[in-house]
Amino acid sequence: MDRPWTVALMFTLLWMQVNCTTGTTSKLCFPSSFMFGVATASYQIEGAWNVSGKGENIWDRYTHTRPERIFDHGTGDVAADSYHQFRQDVRLLKELGVRFYRFSMSWSRILPTGLTNEVNPDGIRYYKELIEELHKNGIEPLVTMYHWDLPQSLQDLGGWTNPVIADYFVDYAKVLLDNFGDRVKFWLTFNEPLSFCHDGYGGSDAPGDRATGMEDYLCGHTVLRAHAAVYRMFQRDYNHRITDLMGITLDMAWIEPASTSAEDKEAAEITRQFFFGWFPHPIFSKQGDYPPVMRKRIDEMSKRQNFTRSRLPHFTKEEVKMLRGACDFLGLNHYTTYLAKRVQRPLSPIPSFDDDMGVQLSQKADWPKSNSTWLKVVPWGLRKTLNWIKGTYGNPPVFITENGISLEPGLRDPRRINYIDGYLRALHAALTKDKCNVYGYTYWSLIDNFEWTRGYSERFGLYEVDYSSKQRVRTARQSAEYYSSVATTKCLPDKVSGYKL
Ligand SMILES: *[C@@H]1O[C@H](CO)[C@@H](O)[C@H](O)[C@H]1NC(C)=O
Ligand SMILES: *[C@@H]1O[C@H](CO)[C@@H](O)[C@H](O)[C@H]1NC(C)=O
Ligand SMILES: *[C@@H]1O[C@H](CO)[C@@H](O)[C@H](O)[C@H]1NC(C)=O
Repeated sequence: MDRPWTVALMFTLLWMQVNCTTGTTSKLCFPSSFMFGVATASYQIEGAWNVSGKGENIWDRYTHTRPERIFDHGTGDVAADSYHQFRQDVRLLKELGVRFYRFSMSWSRILPTGLTNEVNPDGIRYYKELIEELHKNGIEPLVTMYHWDLPQSLQDLGGWTNPVIADYFVDYAKVLLDNFGDRVKFWLTFNEPLSFCHDGYGGSDAPGDRATGMEDYLCGHTVLRAHAAVYRMFQRDYNHRITDLMGITLDMAWIEPASTSAEDKEAAEITRQFFFGWFPHPIFSKQGDYPPVMRKRIDEMSKRQNFTRSRLPHFTKEEVKMLRGACDFLGLNHYTTYLAKRVQRPLSPIPSFDDDMGVQLSQKADWPKSNSTWLKVVPWGLRKTLNWIKGTYGNPPVFITENGISLEPGLRDPRRINYIDGYLRALHAALTKDKCNVYGYTYWSLIDNFEWTRGYSERFGLYEVDYSSKQRVRTARQSAEYYSSVATTKCLPDKVSGYKL
């Protein structure tokens, strides 16, 4: 039996032990085995960018050399100072009553050169202390190996566009598993390869100024090969307990056709495959390899642009085999929804991901807004996303690893409570009515943090961070109280207005 299905079975047994609803009331409750947690990422919260042997990473370099690319010219030099304040963070986690904490490890804090010729003892110490503090408080670590902060030395070799980086990622992963494998049960290899390949190697995130329609595909290819190699190593050498699980976190916005026309319906499905299928198709589909529509469109477009070979690389037969089934669960980051409309653009000799996809995206003007231009509040999009994953990949085990909203500063945040409540209701329907296999939910984020090119201008935290204080004092927002009630009772309050909106 394929391992993902063994895992599904394990989760299902857990599920059957519990009583899903309270029976007599109409209160919406999650199974008692359902896990609630919160997430952060190393570069966005740690700070301490140049202390105790940490090496430089691509976001250090980018924020220092291209400040105009960051909305408020912010850097992650200090951020929320979690490197020094992590005990405070764990205290907040305890106060919330969450079951797990998703955080990422900084590659260049552990391997300053990016390579294993030098292991930084302070990096190992820092994460050991954090994990110990979590365990002391009964909180399970869910560790992301890579959340966008590539060591600069590896970027100097071409970063993820260079196939050799897959080998170096395996070496790094081995250091993590050797040092933390005995105390961490849940692992994620990558966070959002769509974002860091499409926006980093084809857009304006670090490393910046790369080539869309070319480097983004090379990046994706290396990442997928790296993921499969690490998963196979984990399976072979580290997966000693039945509870040890490894997944990958992928971001999928829901894509709805802009109209009822057949063209727009097709455009929506093409977009889902380009924006999402790109990564899970090789892993979770029966046939493996890239989604056929991506293969076809990019091959054809490359030919029309007079390239000798397709800009979308090919996997070897062995790689297809190695990738297929290389995951215990699918980590899903979901925030919002877009509308897709088919567009015909004249053929450009300069490649681009957007031209390959041939779709125009928009959002409805009357969808409720957040403090991020791209993030509109559309709870039903989550239910549709989960159903699409169920239908497309045969209902694999899914863990929601991010969902959240940015709002303006302030401790009174009724719109955040409404957002979480709305998305949890959609998730509950997907679980109970549609029988989607979802085992956990993670709010992004525990605390306000460095939001990449948006700097500190967008706040996603359940706790507000005071960036003017030396200790980066954290204060609970109203939404922290709401989320804590959900995480500890596993039920949604009857009336959100109980929270003095
Ligand atoms: C670390 O970076 C800070 C700026 O964030 C700078 O003031 C300090 O001198 C640097 N320390 C070292 C040891 O380079
Ligand atoms: C491809 O080559 C053909 C033949 O030389 C030429 O007519 C056509 O314009 C080229 N297409 C592009 C997109 O450069
Ligand atoms: C986000 O909030 C800031 C004020 O804190 C405001 O200047 C900015 O326009 C807002 N952005 C959006 C997209 O609402």
